[in-house]
Amino acid sequence: MPSVADSFTARAAKAALDDGFVVVFAAGTGNPFFTTDTAAALRASEMGAEIGRDYQGRPLHLICILKGACIFLSDLLRALDLDVSVDFIAVSSYKKGSNSTGEVQITKDLDQPLEGRDVLIVEDIVDTGLTLNYLFNLLASRGPSSLAIVALLDKPSRRIQPVAVRYIGFEIPNAFVVGYGLDYGERYRHLPDVCVLETPEGVLV
Ligand code: IMP
Ligand code: MG
Repeated sequence: MPSVADSFTARAAKAALDDGFVVVFAAGTGNPFFTTDTAAALRASEMGAEIGRDYQGRPLHLICILKGACIFLSDLLRALDLDVSVDFIAVSSYKKGSNSTGEVQITKDLDQPLEGRDVLIVEDIVDTGLTLNYLFNLLASRGPSSLAIVALLDKPSRRIQPVAVRYIGFEIPNAFVVGYGLDYGERYRHLPDVCVLETPEGVLV
């Protein structure tokens, strides 16, 4: 698995947002917090090729966890040379401060059954692992013939609950990231890069 630091091209270093946050972009400094849209999209297509080899000849049913994983899903999906179907599930995690409590509410359930299918959960980022642990057990109880997880980003230093993620795009250090689908209070999903938010007090974690 490549480290995020491997893949940077120079870009504008900072852009101010109207609410006072500063978004820090990849700046070619080797700073391990940042990736670029190109790096994320390229990694998604690399992962698509790997998944395609692993599931060769078998129909694959992807479950996208809304909303953060939608951009990753769209890049991954187009790299899969398989008989693919897609469904969506939306969850809200109850948080105490910036930590999830592990209590998860399904706000939009799947449209299709999982019984007897090869199922791959598509997630944006694994943080404490509480949300994915809950979801994995829930979906496993619906009788798929196999169930695995792909996540673009992983913050292993934050893990509370172990989760078996089969495919990981990038490991990142402990910083709160936005862009490429990821939000802070429903904003910044549209930023083409994975970025950290910086306040006058420093990088948000
Ligand atoms: P967990 O239950 O703590 O693993 O939380 C996972 C969910 O929290 C992810 O699916 C994201 O929606 C959200 N999350 C965790 N870390 C970040 C981050 O750095 N930026 C944006 N969302 C995050
Ligand atoms: Mg999410």
